Amino acid sequence: MEKREAKRRIVLVSAPAQGHVTPMMQLGKALNLKGFLITVVQGEINQVSSSAQQSSGFQYITIPESVPESEVMRLGLVKFLMKLNNAREASFKDCIGRLLLQQGNDIACIIYDEITYFCAAAAKDFNLPSIIFSTTTATHRVCCTVLSKLNAKKFLMDMQDPLVQDKVVENLHPFRYKDVPISGMGPLEPYIEFCREIVNKRTASAVIINTASCLENSSLSWLQQELGIPVYPLGPLHITASAKSSLLEEDKSCIEWLDKQKPKSVIYISFGSLAQMETKEVLEMARGLCDSNQPFLWVARPDSEWIESLPEEVSKMVSKRGYIVKWAPQKEVLAHPALGGFWSHCGWNSTLESIVEGVPMICTPSSGEQKLNAKYIESVWRIGIKMEGEMERGGVERAVKRLIVDEEGAGMRERAHVLKEKLKASVRSGGSSHKAFDDLVKYLKAE
Ligand code: UDX
Repeated sequence: MEKREAKRRIVLVSAPAQGHVTPMMQLGKALNLKGFLITVVQGEINQVSSSAQQSSGFQYITIPESVPESEVMRLGLVKFLMKLNNAREASFKDCIGRLLLQQGNDIACIIYDEITYFCAAAAKDFNLPSIIFSTTTATHRVCCTVLSKLNAKKFLMDMQDPLVQDKVVENLHPFRYKDVPISGMGPLEPYIEFCREIVNKRTASAVIINTASCLENSSLSWLQQELGIPVYPLGPLHITASAKSSLLEEDKSCIEWLDKQKPKSVIYISFGSLAQMETKEVLEMARGLCDSNQPFLWVARPDSEWIESLPEEVSKMVSKRGYIVKWAPQKEVLAHPALGGFWSHCGWNSTLESIVEGVPMICTPSSGEQKLNAKYIESVWRIGIKMEGEMERGGVERAVKRLIVDEEGAGMRERAHVLKEKLKASVRSGGSSHKAFDDLVKYLKAE
């Protein structure tokens, strides 16, 4: 009997944001190293830069965009993403239809970001296997499942009762209802609807999560039971396969500046690719950082206007103690011996990158699951401090000193170091993430 040739092409579809593109490209690279051919289907918004495209060796297909990016402002993020999903469904089906013709049916699987659930329709129509990729945490997916089962009006009413706010969410210890991440996501009703779409597995045969069992074992077990399909916790992917994916140009001059600083003395400040700061907050941050007397490296993205609005005297103070870049080579920065701490918005990529380098954190989560990550950092792994309330210079100064100078910070650094070793072991041969990735590859090769 003729042996069936294993299908080799994997189609990847990411959500249009740096924090989602990065792990998807890393997954592509890891699968490419195992012999799969990679096709990345992207919309016109937030495309991978042409240099990153060239160096990846992947095929790229851009589908036409019928929802302009400016709609985010008008609709809010959640409604924008739902509209994008509706708009892309048909063009993605056309794209897969054409690809199948061109590639002689050689598609082993479509792997799509949980946010780009529009892909499921094409997978179903063409009878192709599909896998959901959750680029955040297992705990976030559990929270989305909890939210998807709620009634918005009743939940908001119930939450007026402090006893309900303090109740531990079933299966989610130590998270209480007040920790469920709903802030920054707009009105609750459409957000719950969005969660229903995200957690609907449709015809997917597995879920990949960029996490590791040593980080959130109980959420992973819960999910595995709830979903009834394999869950592959194979992170952190940036150790397994680094891939060039930055949407912005990195300013490497900060590494030379770090070279001149004392070991473990610098606080690195970056709030990822989306979070915005108000000028008032930035001023308090700048003053608190200067008062802490510690050197600092601060990322002020090109789309943030605060840097131009700093009063001259603050600007002078900042340039005396600190160094500002528009976009840093973050992983290199975190690995630098001068790094003492990371003040972060707790996006999941930043959190993983920080743990992998054993760097303790100051947390100021702004939206989405960042609040959950901050809770883990402070209360479960105990490798950081959450800054609560309004941004105020005294609080900033205290947090920096607690982390970099005090005994308390030394304890966090020690625990961060232990976690780093566990995480690194999980991606080595015999480790849990290594095994999860092997299982995924076996599954894909059997398709
Ligand atoms: C978004 C969401 O906000 C976050 O909550 C979710 O977990 C992932 O998607 P983002 O806000 O961009 O992500 O944060 P994060 O996940 O931390 O990703 C930022 C990425 O940009 C990291 O990989 C980081 O290394 C990189 N980065 C950031 C740089 O390379 N240079 C910088 O100067 C700043």
